[in-house]
Formats: sequence, structure tokens, C-alpha cells
Amino acid sequence: MNQIEIVTLVFTCSVITYSLSSVYYVYKLRGNLRYQSMNEYIRKGWFIFAPLNCLFYLLTRPYARQPIMDIQQFPELDEIRESWQVIRQEALALREKQHFDQVEGPASDEDYYDLGFRTFYKYGWSKFYLNWYGYQHASALDLCPKTSAILAKNKHIQGAMFSFLPPGGRLTRHLDPIAYSLRYQIGLDTPDSQQCFIDIDGQQYAWKDGESIIFDETYIHYAENNSDQQRLVLMCDIRRPMNPLGRGISFIMDKIMPVTVVPNMPGDRRGLLSRVFASVSPLLSEVRKLKQSNKSLYRLIKHTTNFVLLALLLSLLVGIFYALMWLTAM
Ligand SMILES: [Fe+2]
Repeated sequence: MNQIEIVTLVFTCSVITYSLSSVYYVYKLRGNLRYQSMNEYIRKGWFIFAPLNCLFYLLTRPYARQPIMDIQQFPELDEIRESWQVIRQEALALREKQHFDQVEGPASDEDYYDLGFRTFYKYGWSKFYLNWYGYQHASALDLCPKTSAILAKNKHIQGAMFSFLPPGGRLTRHLDPIAYSLRYQIGLDTPDSQQCFIDIDGQQYAWKDGESIIFDETYIHYAENNSDQQRLVLMCDIRRPMNPLGRGISFIMDKIMPVTVVPNMPGDRRGLLSRVFASVSPLLSEVRKLKQSNKSLYRLIKHTTNFVLLALLLSLLVGIFYALMWLTAM
């Protein structure tokens, strides 16, 4: 065995060990709320991103490592908090003009298909993008100019939207795939009641007008509005506080994330990945229908797709490694 082969072997073993340890850590050890089963973890836990996420967790500054953060540690968001009433006025006007309705319901499958939030519409939730990872939505600039200006000034905001939960609405247990950001929410028009809350890793928080929360959206969380009033909040992805190495990886992610941009209205841009998924969404709907009519076939397609995606990802990693080895050997 020559030196390159030994290095390759050690590297490959290390990557496999680290990846399996990451998956185990997220499944078994991270947080108070546990997955109900391995099945739930596979369906909702984004295990494929566990190695990347664990790297982000390691690189996160200590004050940002809890499920819910101390808001005082984020003075960079004070200006947004102080402007909440201006933001509220624009959000309420949008709601009144029914612009949220354009992106909710079955129509969103074709025109506004949103890979990241596609499962959220089931129980009444809807949203309106303000900006998303470097892209300023033209519709938001037009309909919410003051909010857009406030957000554009703040370099810690990576993406923002108005998020609406009607009376009786809910979001089931889920977590976000990549631990690249933290989630910031400020109440704009809320029931101010314990009946309307978000549960993050077992801790419940009831929204209040003008009050905000920052949490790590890669912990299991869910939301319910059991009141008879609507809940409207500003929801932002903010930069995860990380050390310089983490910020370096974030810089690369900044270049990738614009592919996930989804429009609010005609005239807004659609990112490449979002365009691809929008074009295959009719096919995905047909596959989902199999869940009722032919469960075995549905499972076969689902597991095969997951396997192929995993194999592609691993091939990409191995390919990058061999390319690097080849370049250094030249
Ligand atoms: Fe969420």
C-alpha cells in the first residue's frame, strides 16, 4: 500500500465513522424531545444532513447552542424589534388584500411550489416571502417597502417572510434540514394566549405582539393555534453565530442557497432548484396518491429515491476527495 492509498483509507474510515456518529448523536442524544421511532427520524429527521449539521453545531458559539436563545445576546436585531409596528401595518395590509392566499392551497403545487415548506400548508399555514438568501422579492419591495428597507439594512438577516397561522391551524412535529441559520420570530398580530404557541424541544412559547424569540430550528418543534384569532409573525433566518471556520463554510452556503428562492407572485424570481422541483411536482403529486391506492409501490419508489439520492451524495463526496488527491499528487 503506498502513502496515498493509506491516507485515502484513513480518510474514508474517518468520514464513515464521523457520519455514523453524527446520525447516532442527532437520533439518540440531541435535545429533550426524542423521535418517536427510527421511522419518524428517517421521514422527518433529515439524517442525510446530520454530518454537516454536527459540524455546524461544533463551530457554533456557546451562547447560541441552546434550543431557545437569550434574545439579549443578539443586539443586532434591536432595530427590527423597535420597528415592529411599522412591519405589522404592512403585514396586515397584505393579509387584508389576500396576498397570502396566492401561495397557500393546492395551487401552490404548480405556481409557487416550495420544496422547503411544501408540507406546511396542510393545516392552514401560509406565508409571504420578503427576501431569501440574497434575493429581494420584487413583490415584497412593491407591497412592503418599509419592511423590505428595514430588513435590507440588516446583514444578519439571511431570509425573511410573514408567517400566518389561522385559528385552528397547526404545524406538525418537524425540524429544518440544515443548521446553517437560527430562526427569529417577532409577533405582529397574535392571540396573546397560551392556546397559540410553538413548542421547541419541549419548551412552549406563546407569541405576543412586539415580542420576539430566537431558536434553533433543527430541534424538533411544532406549533398550534387553538385560539379563535389569527397569528401573524415576522419570521427570519438569521446568521448562526459561528467561529471563523464556520463563517467560511457559511460563505459557501451563501452561494448555494439562492437556488432555493421561491416566488410570491409573477414577476418574482425562481431559483434553479426550486424550478426543478416545481417542474416535477405534478409527478410527485401522482406518487403521493399511491400512498392511498398502492402503499407497497409508494414505499418502493420512496425508498429507492432516498437510496439513489444518498448514493449520489456519497459519490459526490468521494469524487471530490479523489479529485483533491489527484491534484495534490500531480
Ligand atoms: Fe419550523
